[in-house]
Amino acid sequence: MKRARLAVLVSGRGRNLRALQAACAVGHIAADPVLVVSNDATAPALEFARQCGIPALALEHTAYASRPAFDAALATALRAVQPDIVALAGFMRVLGAAFVTEFEGRLLNIHPSLLPKYPGLHTHRRALTAGDHEHGATVHFVTAELDGGPRILQGVVAVKPDDDEDRLAARVLEDVELKIYPQVVAWMARGELRCLAGQAMFRGAPLAAPLGLDALEETFR
Ligand code: GAR
Repeated sequence: MKRARLAVLVSGRGRNLRALQAACAVGHIAADPVLVVSNDATAPALEFARQCGIPALALEHTAYASRPAFDAALATALRAVQPDIVALAGFMRVLGAAFVTEFEGRLLNIHPSLLPKYPGLHTHRRALTAGDHEHGATVHFVTAELDGGPRILQGVVAVKPDDDEDRLAARVLEDVELKIYPQVVAWMARGELRCLAGQAMFRGAPLAAPLGLDALEETFR
């Protein structure tokens, strides 16, 4: 089977990128990382990509006069590698409608909350402040609405009484994010998951609600 071409957009540390790269390398995801782009030239994720031999590009958003100019440069870089899947993995820039439309159906994002709860920033802090008993992360297709596209897979963790922001963030990352993102990208690479007319379709049927951790295949648990 033809392997999918995977591009990953990052801004920081790159734990999700590492999980995706590792799953590709051992064959759990039938894809090859073809490009990593960061809007921050100092992002450790970029250095990791270079060490793995993945083409890595810094596009500093501060070098562009406007959001559309940055988006256009990013679109040009992506077009050149013809990605089947574009995974936002800790990418902290909002993408405009023109960019999203061009790559629609190929664009995935991971967000550290149980969407539709807490789109935007400081999700762990907001969950703690609200006294939530459950928190988690969501992988969804990207649309022009911030963190608002069709949800695919969501994982829940219990909030513990002694949790602070860092402890909760670490548990969401380890127990949920690093499992659900490789799984979703694997489904995409196999052609089992699509976005049709704003609707997530899994194995030919619309997803009425996001899948949960029980949907993870053995390899991704
Ligand atoms: C992850 O927790 C990811 O869910 C979050 O940033 C972190 C990146 O960590 N993304 C967002 O907040 C997107 N709005 P990483 O660089 O180590 O993967």
